[in-house]
Amino acid sequence: MKRSAIISQAEFLLGVVDKNKFPVFELPEVAFIGRSNVGKSSLINNIVMRKNLAKISSEPGKTREINFFEVENKWLLVDMPGFGYATIGKAHREKWATLNYFYLENRDNLKLVCVLIDGRHDPMPTDVALIEFLENINRKYLIIVTKCDKLSNINMFERKQQIEHLVIFCKNCIEVLPYSSISGLGRNELIGIIKHNAVKENIY
Ligand code: GTP
Ligand code: MG
Repeated sequence: MKRSAIISQAEFLLGVVDKNKFPVFELPEVAFIGRSNVGKSSLINNIVMRKNLAKISSEPGKTREINFFEVENKWLLVDMPGFGYATIGKAHREKWATLNYFYLENRDNLKLVCVLIDGRHDPMPTDVALIEFLENINRKYLIIVTKCDKLSNINMFERKQQIEHLVIFCKNCIEVLPYSSISGLGRNELIGIIKHNAVKENIY
C-alpha cells in the first residue's frame, strides 16, 4: 500500500474580506477555488490531515473570506470563498468577484491555483469562466475533480477525459487530478504537484 505523505504543521493565519487589506507574506501561496459546496474545505483538511482546520459547511457558501493557512513554515494554503451559490445575492456575488479576481490577478506570491470541479456533474459555465480567466491572466493551475468516491471507476475516467478535452488548448493547465477527501485518492499526487510547482524544495 502507498504511504500517505505526512504534513507535520498547519495553522490558520487570517481571513481577508477587503481587497485593500491583503497582508504581505514571504512564503509561496497555493490557492483553492471552486463552486460553493464543491469540497474545498474538506480537501484542505484532507491535505493537512486535520479534521477541522477549514470549516466544512452544511450550508453552501459558508466560506466568505479568503483564508490563509501556513503549512510547515514552507508554503501558504489559501482557501477562497465558493462561487455560484444562487441565493447569495447580486451584491455579494459582485463583492466575491472583486475580491477573488483581484487576488488571482495581482498576488505575486501566488504560484499555483487549484480549481475544484465536482466530479458528479458536468463542468458549469462558471467553472469554464474561471478557467478562461486564469488562461487570460496567465496563471498556472490544475483542475481537481472532487468527490470521486461517489463515482464508479469508469465514470471517473470519463469525467477526467471530458475535462482534459475541455482544456486541450489551455497552456496554463498542468493536470486534471481525480480526488476524494474521503478515501485520500489523489492526495499524494497533489502534494507532489504542489511541491514541484510552488514550493520547489524537497520538504516531503
Ligand atoms: P463552501 O465553503 O460552502 O464553498 O463549500 P466547500 O467547497 O468548502 O465544501 P465543503 O468541503 O464544505 O463540502 C461540502 C459538502 O460536500 C459537505 O457535506 C462534505 O462532507 C461533502 N464532501 C466534500 N468532499 C467530499 C468528498 O471527497 N467525497 C464526498 N463523498 N463528499 C464530500
Ligand atoms: Mg469551504
